[in-house]
Amino acid sequence: MKAVVYHGPGEKSLDERPMPELAGATDAIVKVTRTTICGTDLHILKGDVPSCEPGRILGHEGVGIVHSVGQAVSGLAVGDHVLISCISSCGQCEYCRRGMYSHCTTGGWILGNRIDGTQAEYVRIPHAQTSLYRIPAGLDEEALVMLSDILPTGFECGVLNGKVEPGSTVAIVGAGPIGLASLLTAQFYSPAQIIMIDQDPNRLEIAQQFGATACVDARGDAVAQVMKLTGSVGVDCAIEAVGVPATFELCEALVAPGGVIANIGVHGVKADLHLEKLWDRNIAITTRLVDTVSTPMLLKTVRAGRLDPRKLITHRFALSRAMDAYDTFSRAADSHALKVLIEVD
Ligand SMILES: NC(=O)c1ccc[n+]([C@@H]2O[C@H](COP(=O)([O-])OP(=O)(O)OC[C@H]3O[C@@H](n4cnc5c(N)ncnc54)[C@H](O)[C@@H]3O)[C@@H](O)[C@H]2O)c1
Ligand SMILES: [Zn+2]
Ligand SMILES: [Zn+2]
Repeated sequence: MKAVVYHGPGEKSLDERPMPELAGATDAIVKVTRTTICGTDLHILKGDVPSCEPGRILGHEGVGIVHSVGQAVSGLAVGDHVLISCISSCGQCEYCRRGMYSHCTTGGWILGNRIDGTQAEYVRIPHAQTSLYRIPAGLDEEALVMLSDILPTGFECGVLNGKVEPGSTVAIVGAGPIGLASLLTAQFYSPAQIIMIDQDPNRLEIAQQFGATACVDARGDAVAQVMKLTGSVGVDCAIEAVGVPATFELCEALVAPGGVIANIGVHGVKADLHLEKLWDRNIAITTRLVDTVSTPMLLKTVRAGRLDPRKLITHRFALSRAMDAYDTFSRAADSHALKVLIEVD
């Protein structure tokens, strides 16, 4: 089968690889029909994720059709159309029982990281029963690729951890796919203001179309602009969706007394914590690796037409052109890419 293989920092290629086989009773093999590329795949290619070793098939998002199942898998049958969660979870360990699937002792974020991933014709999914979601008939399967990772991430790490409420004020720093996923799902709660902050005018334009109440260009004085928009108070919820020190420190400057800084970004270096300014402001800071506990709820909102993930897809490529897909995705400022869909069948 064809697969996108990581060969060490800066190196990847579309290779011929053997078909995966069932390795355990709780595994399933899924024939991938659609997959995509995540900002985190670019982090891997930069060498930021040492757990991902050369030779690994990349990718942790996708939909497909069940090809075979292990003896212990129930509730899934060959031929079922499924959504693949970026997080594998056994459903039984202490972390899983607490809903922290991201820290499953025999799972977590392993796909396309510690085990071969979804940017291939077939993928082995461990703990299949609790890591795959059957797709109800009639749903737009392509759009559901956005539910493998980015929508649960924007919602859980940003909106839920950030305690977005009706009438609250929200600032989202970073209008990439993840920040936009927070923007879309924050609207479930009717906040009074959602201010998007980015340095890419095209992405701010998209944010406006997706429901932002104001857009701020980070190349200017973002703090001054947000203070002007919030009556000099700051925001109840500052969501960090970039992953660099400057944007985390911007969130520290934007948060109002009693507010929350909800970090989503993957950080490779330290950021300064200004406790000398924050100690008396009754704020909270949260971090989270997405658990994907909200996936069933998000599926319902898509089914009911309350959430349209399709609008995040800007480009499509056949798997044979996966290298072009990476090129387009990694040049987002020029290509205006949000999510690039890779069509496998
Ligand atoms: N916590 C989790 O479980 C989890 C899951 C998935 C992704 N992530 C992380 O979330 C982050 C966002 O992912 P993405 O796919 O949207 O990334 P992305 O690179 O597509 O988007 C980042 C956005 O930030 C903007 N930006 C860069 N520097 C900026 C600055 N100084 N000020 C304002 N804006 C700036 C860019 O223009 C871009 O639009 C990444 O760090 C990713 O690794 C975390
Ligand atoms: Zn991802
Ligand atoms: Zn577990």
